[in-house]
Amino acid sequence: YKPSDLAYLPGAYGNNVPMREVIVEPFKELQAAAEEEIGVNFMPTTAFRDYNFQRTLYNNYVASDGVTAADTYSARPGYSEHQTGLSIDIFSTEYTTTEAFKNSTHYEWLVNNAYKYGFIQRYQSDTEDVTGFTEEAWHWRYVGVEVATYLHEHDITFDEYYAYFT
Ligand code: DAL
Ligand code: ZN
Repeated sequence: YKPSDLAYLPGAYGNNVPMREVIVEPFKELQAAAEEEIGVNFMPTTAFRDYNFQRTLYNNYVASDGVTAADTYSARPGYSEHQTGLSIDIFSTEYTTTEAFKNSTHYEWLVNNAYKYGFIQRYQSDTEDVTGFTEEAWHWRYVGVEVATYLHEHDITFDEYYAYFT
C-alpha cells in the first residue's frame, strides 16, 4: 500500500517529509498554534514510511535487539501505521530522554492541544497492553478532530475506539 495523495512538509533535518495530503493542513494549523502559544516550531521527522523502509528499520532493530524486543517498539513491515501516511513523529528540542520530554512544556502543549487538530498520542505509557507497543511520546496519529476529541475526553486508545465503534 502506498497512499496516492502524498504531500510534503519541511522536516526537522532539512528534508521534505511525505505524508497524506489530508493531514497537511491540520498539521500546519497545529504548528501555527504551537508557534503562537508557546513559541515552538514543531517539525516532522518522519511521517509516511513505505514497506521497504519499514522492513529495513525492523530488520535492523531485530539484528541489534532480537525479535522479542524489536516487536515491543517497532511494527513489522506492512503493519506500521506510518505506512498509512497518517502518523507523524514530531521533533522537539526538549527530547533528550522520554522522561525529560514528558516534563517539558512542549509535550504538555501537545497533550492538551493536539487533539484539537485531530492528532493523538498513539502509544502511551499505560496502554502497552492494548496497543502492543511501548510508549512513544513523539508519535502522533491523525484520526480527525471528532475522533481525537472523543479519545481525549474519554482517555481511551484508538484501538479501543476501533473495537467498540467501527
Ligand atoms: N514505532 C511504531 C510502532 C512503528 O514502527 O510504526
Ligand atoms: Zn512513529
